[in-house]
Amino acid sequence: MTLVSHSLDVIKRFQSHTGAYPASPTFSAYRGYSWLRDGAFIAEGVSRHGDVAGADAFHAWSAGVLGDRAGQVDALVARAARGERVSPAEMLPTRFTLDGVDGDDEWWDFQLDGYGAWLWALREHSLRHGRAVPGVEKGVRTAVSYLTAFWQLPCYDWWEEHVEQRHVATLGSVHAGLRAALALGVLSGPEAEAAAEAVAGIAALVAAEGVVAGRLTKWLGTDAVDASLLACVEPFGLYPADHPVGAATVAEVERQLARDGGVFRYLADTFYGGGRWVLLAGFLGWNHARAGRTAEATRYLDWMAAQATPGGDLPEQVSDVLLAPERHDEWVARWGTVATPLLWSHGMYLILADELGVRA
Ligand code: BGC
Repeated sequence: MTLVSHSLDVIKRFQSHTGAYPASPTFSAYRGYSWLRDGAFIAEGVSRHGDVAGADAFHAWSAGVLGDRAGQVDALVARAARGERVSPAEMLPTRFTLDGVDGDDEWWDFQLDGYGAWLWALREHSLRHGRAVPGVEKGVRTAVSYLTAFWQLPCYDWWEEHVEQRHVATLGSVHAGLRAALALGVLSGPEAEAAAEAVAGIAALVAAEGVVAGRLTKWLGTDAVDASLLACVEPFGLYPADHPVGAATVAEVERQLARDGGVFRYLADTFYGGGRWVLLAGFLGWNHARAGRTAEATRYLDWMAAQATPGGDLPEQVSDVLLAPERHDEWVARWGTVATPLLWSHGMYLILADELGVRA
């Protein structure tokens, strides 16, 4: 079985009957939960390889989860409009149980990027297959209302860290999601106006405070980079590959964070000792593929495949080269061995394989 077939199989096998994708069905800290960030890229991967029903089910589930929270979002937005402070603990969660409820386990629970990534993936899927996913409007409008009201707030980043910062990859995800929602054509006039205003506001803020030395930064006001910034170029297009800032961002992330085909999250990473992430090799390869650097893209695809277990499962990260080796064991003691399979890793493999014409 090829890794494309195996990836499709793993994702289908573990997709819940509700439509939710578990992040990693066996990993202690993730078991039973679905993240919109992971799910968006998993759905994008299977959508590209013809699992239309699987992607439809995920999008319908996400829209339902959002739609069920329309009242909560309306109340939060109304409070913010009156000038009341809304605390991170009151916001929508980062992840949901497979049944679409908030779940009782403690988590780093205020992250905006997943809501943007979901809207982006929904639009890509609808465009690709030439039809709307039925019944998603209420969920889309709820996500848009939430993001237009709160995009300026600091929140946890893609790695669920630094709630006090405004992260550029998060802003890029929200920017792409709101553009996608506008293109879906389901917003009212005032909703569309507010979304367009937020899109312009995000672009202006990042241009003013999120660019140093001609490339994007991990958060507003630092000069560090983070591999999640790759998504601000391809696929989110906050700065496209042919814009100098887009090109310089990909080049700087690769210079600082790529090693022999694998990609670190950021230099100060200590999670499981800070290894190289399979899904980030996917984002870097995707950027190379879109910029026409096929040989480079293929090198990242091959590295991803080489990290599979003998049974073909892809891990979240690999631990052979670590940025902080002394921090590895404490995570194994806390949560067990690295999450494997991680469905997002398989989703990214599917995306990059598709970019390079590698099919099942
Ligand atoms: C990562 C997140 C991811 C989650 C589930 C976390 O360890 O930091 O980016 O969404 O795992 O895969």
